[in-house]
Amino acid sequence: MRTASSHHLRFLRAWLDSPLRVGAIAPSGKRLASLMTRDIGPACGPVLELGPGTGAFTQALLERGVQERDLTLVERGEDFIGHLHSRFPASRILRMDATQAPVEGLFAHQAFGAVISGVPLLSLGARRTTALLSWVFPCLKDGGAFYQFTYGFGCPVPACVLARLDLVAERIGFTVRNLPPATVYRIARRSSGTCC
Ligand SMILES: C[S@@+](CC[C@H](N)C(=O)[O-])C[C@H]1O[C@@H](n2cnc3c(N)ncnc32)[C@H](O)[C@@H]1O
Repeated sequence: MRTASSHHLRFLRAWLDSPLRVGAIAPSGKRLASLMTRDIGPACGPVLELGPGTGAFTQALLERGVQERDLTLVERGEDFIGHLHSRFPASRILRMDATQAPVEGLFAHQAFGAVISGVPLLSLGARRTTALLSWVFPCLKDGGAFYQFTYGFGCPVPACVLARLDLVAERIGFTVRNLPPATVYRIARRSSGTCC
């Protein structure tokens, strides 16, 4: 059985290898995972997770009642892929750069009820953040939302990017019980309700 300390060790190794991509020295804690998944449950249907790492949010989604087979995990780092396959064997795991548009048809068969993202947007910059959001939002159901955490001050999606894509961001929580403390944003289409 895998322990929290083995997740930490794997994460730290990945960070030493690629600090900018991994963006943190430890996986997110339970409190942040709980905030990130607060609005998500089985009624959402399929959920897309970007940058799952060792699966801190993935596990929280399962604990919220989301079916493992309803999860699509998009991870760029090869260092996490095998681990994700053995920890979440029924989910769909794609090794992919979330800032690149997916090949045509990859997500054609399902619309997601929610997207949760651990990708460090602050290190991506506006152009790559725009590229990521530009393919993700068309994959979301009407009323679906994108959840993102940040260690920074303010929303990690620049205001000009939100305006260009007609999105709005709402700060939904903050926790000091994480290393480092983190804030969670919910980003949605300007004119949408909620779907789950
Ligand atoms: C800060 S870690 C968060 C990991 C996990 N969600 C957590 O909270 O513990 C960032 C994760 O995003 C992944 N990542 C970074 N850039 C990415 C990209 N362009 N596409 C997909 N995954 C990416 C990293 O490999 C890493 O797993």
